[in-house]
Amino acid sequence: MDREKSAAFLKNMTGIMNGGALSLMCSIGHKTGLFDTMAGMDPATSQEIAEAAGLQERYVREWLSALTAGGVIEHDADAGTFVLPSEHSGLLTRASGPLNLTTYCQYVSLLGQVEDEVVAAFREGGGVPYDRYPQFQTIMAESSFQRLSKSLLSDVIPLLEGAHERLSEGIDVADVGCGSGRALNLLAQAYPNSRFTGFDIAEAAIERARSEAAEMGLDNVEFVVRDAAALEEDARFDLVFTFDAVHDQAHPDRMLTGIHAAMREGGQYLCVEPKASSHLHENLDMAMAPMVYTISTMHCMTVSLAYGGEGLGTAWGEQLAIEKLTTAGFVDINVSGTKQDRGNHYLISRKPVVAEHSATTV
Ligand SMILES: C[S@@+](CC[C@H](N)C(=O)[O-])C[C@H]1O[C@@H](n2cnc3c(N)ncnc32)[C@H](O)[C@@H]1O
Repeated sequence: MDREKSAAFLKNMTGIMNGGALSLMCSIGHKTGLFDTMAGMDPATSQEIAEAAGLQERYVREWLSALTAGGVIEHDADAGTFVLPSEHSGLLTRASGPLNLTTYCQYVSLLGQVEDEVVAAFREGGGVPYDRYPQFQTIMAESSFQRLSKSLLSDVIPLLEGAHERLSEGIDVADVGCGSGRALNLLAQAYPNSRFTGFDIAEAAIERARSEAAEMGLDNVEFVVRDAAALEEDARFDLVFTFDAVHDQAHPDRMLTGIHAAMREGGQYLCVEPKASSHLHENLDMAMAPMVYTISTMHCMTVSLAYGGEGLGTAWGEQLAIEKLTTAGFVDINVSGTKQDRGNHYLISRKPVVAEHSATTV
């Protein structure tokens, strides 16, 4: 028995329990707007903070106690006040944009809701279907928009050679597994000469995408309820996106083959997927690796298995992604990224023109 190792592990376990608990508190701080209220506020009592946020003091005081104990908020016992240091608020508020980590803390509580069903799947097999996560689409839309709203036009489109020019002239674009469609609506607004189609199997998400498009007054975007494994579109798209939408598919190979068939020759495909290696041991130094594998177990892998799928998992990784893209017929696969989004790989590829393809296969 190595006592030092044992003591170190006790410390690790305590950190794990406290981290899980504090994630819930951070999620509540986000949902109630408490972090936004406290950012830039002078040291204040729980009563003053509760009043500023329009919340119940007793709950706010308990929340402040948890986050003070967790080192997120600072407390002056003599004055009876609390303050959110500016060094911390930059990771906790809506104003922080893509740096706001509390958006992601919401996943912990969301996933906790299906824990018993996941436990049952450990015993009996199968998985937990998408409709068991009623808030998933809302949280997903919020977190992906937070990440993409600032970078989609300025950093993502420039990764695709010539895309800005072609989008400005007018091309056909698809987003498969578009969720609530926020990325596509942003693109449709920026490129009025192009035509955009979003596909997703979730009717509620497609409805939200349509309402947002209507609110934005867009007439160059449409959203279609469609199973990505049966896309069955003619070769009519010049540019296709999938944002975080391949790894939780039941049938990712069918999806990729369908995307390939739906593209014009020479068209570009940007597949954005969680940054990971396909080998566990190469992911262990990733800061968010425990979170990535947890989200996978509790959502991405299990939703796929629920429909008799492949269960790729969130960290299916770059190597397997390249293999699957190649099998589907894509060429010139290049793995890139943006400074604003360090958690994802941007896999850029192309559908070859027929003459080129036959020359390489002869
Ligand atoms: C992780 S979410 C990503 C959503 C969106 N692209 C984003 O970045 O916010 C994956 C999306 O794939 C959709 N999806 C899952 N299985 C699907 C299927 N068989 N056909 C079409 N969409 C599917 C889900 O409804 C969900 O909106």
